[in-house]
Amino acid sequence: MPIANNFLFPDEFRDEFFYELKVGYCEGCHMVQLVERVEPERLFHDHYAFYSSTSSRMARHFEAFADEVCQKYLRSPDPFVIEIGSNDGIMLKHFAHRGLRHLGIEPSKNVAQVALDQHLDVISEFFSVDLSAEIVRKRGKADAILGANVMCHIPNLHSVAEGIKQLLKPEGVLIFEDPYLGDIVEKTSYDQIYDEHVFYFSLHSISGFFEGHGMEVIDIVPQDVHGGSMRYVIARKNGGRISDRVKTQLAKERAIGLDRPETFDSLSRNIERSRDELIAVLRDLKTKGKRVVGYGATSKSTTVINYCGITPDLVQHISDTTPIKQGKYSPGGHIPIRPYESFCADYPDVALLFAWNHADEIMAKEKRFLESGGKWLTYIPKVEVIG
Ligand code: SAH
Ligand code: TYD
Repeated sequence: MPIANNFLFPDEFRDEFFYELKVGYCEGCHMVQLVERVEPERLFHDHYAFYSSTSSRMARHFEAFADEVCQKYLRSPDPFVIEIGSNDGIMLKHFAHRGLRHLGIEPSKNVAQVALDQHLDVISEFFSVDLSAEIVRKRGKADAILGANVMCHIPNLHSVAEGIKQLLKPEGVLIFEDPYLGDIVEKTSYDQIYDEHVFYFSLHSISGFFEGHGMEVIDIVPQDVHGGSMRYVIARKNGGRISDRVKTQLAKERAIGLDRPETFDSLSRNIERSRDELIAVLRDLKTKGKRVVGYGATSKSTTVINYCGITPDLVQHISDTTPIKQGKYSPGGHIPIRPYESFCADYPDVALLFAWNHADEIMAKEKRFLESGGKWLTYIPKVEVIG
């Protein structure tokens, strides 16, 4: 596989970096994770292509996340909030606007700059146990440490856990959310599997992991974003009452088999079936002379395009609203990325919904596409032409 977010120009094709994308399951600790990892510096740098604020739905989601943190977890007189992986400030700004002490930690310099331009307090570095010691020295300990779609990105999770422990006040909480393994299994959303996502967490794996660091999960809240995520609230052991939701979710995970290897054998078969069906539909559309365009040059689409073998003769180009991706080509498959305006100017017969996790937001704004006779092709949870 190529780097999922490495949208590139033709003169870069020759030197494109590839690695083996392979996922493992540990029967001992129930962690699902990549076997071979790409060094973080190759992924997160000064031209990182993912800007959080491209989705209005996510903007609302993070405003609500910040509201909840303020109401439930910031009770001290002058609270201090830290966000790991704060990107363009989509969530952090809600703490800043309230005048609260805040700090974002964001290694990708271009997206960190967007937050800095809004006068948010951000340092552009990778979070680690060493950085955490420096923050304690310079700014003191935190009431809450937050992370969205970032914990699963950090290969050295043990260093993160130790860093968090030394950075949190005794009664402080770590609250983070990531795509949930239960949803990946249930929906066969294999496109969540790519270089940045080193881990695919379940409550089983997260509980065991933090237990080993003297911490425990005190609450969980499923989230209807990014195709199904789980928010975990974690405190030092005996740091808070454990919600009944934790016990119920552990039982649910056992019922769907997240603690057993057979589940992943069957996931693997479902993924192969999904690939075969998608490629058959695309070939059929090509035979019928239909013009297919991709919608959303997501990181996830890199897995789909390269795993299924989707070529520019099957999908002409991909429409995306992110300026840094436009005019470039998709990683590996080298499908051109065009601005959203070109989608509106010349509707295709079929739009392949790569940004399926934003389906509600997209369907609401693309009514005219359907009215003009266009159809959607989706592949999660199943391969289907809609419209
Ligand atoms: N929280 C945002 C961004 C998610 S993308 C959202 O949910 O939309 C993941 C972000 O984590 C990227 O901006 C990346 O640069 C950052 N990141 C990756 N490794 C990190 C690390 N070790 N410490 C802090 N941030 C990291
Ligand atoms: P997203 O699915 O959030 O993330 P990932 O890269 O982690 O898979 O990416 C959404 C992409 O789709 C992003 O490049 C912006 C683009 N997009 C559009 O082009 N139009 C839209 O209406 C939305 C919501 C996203």
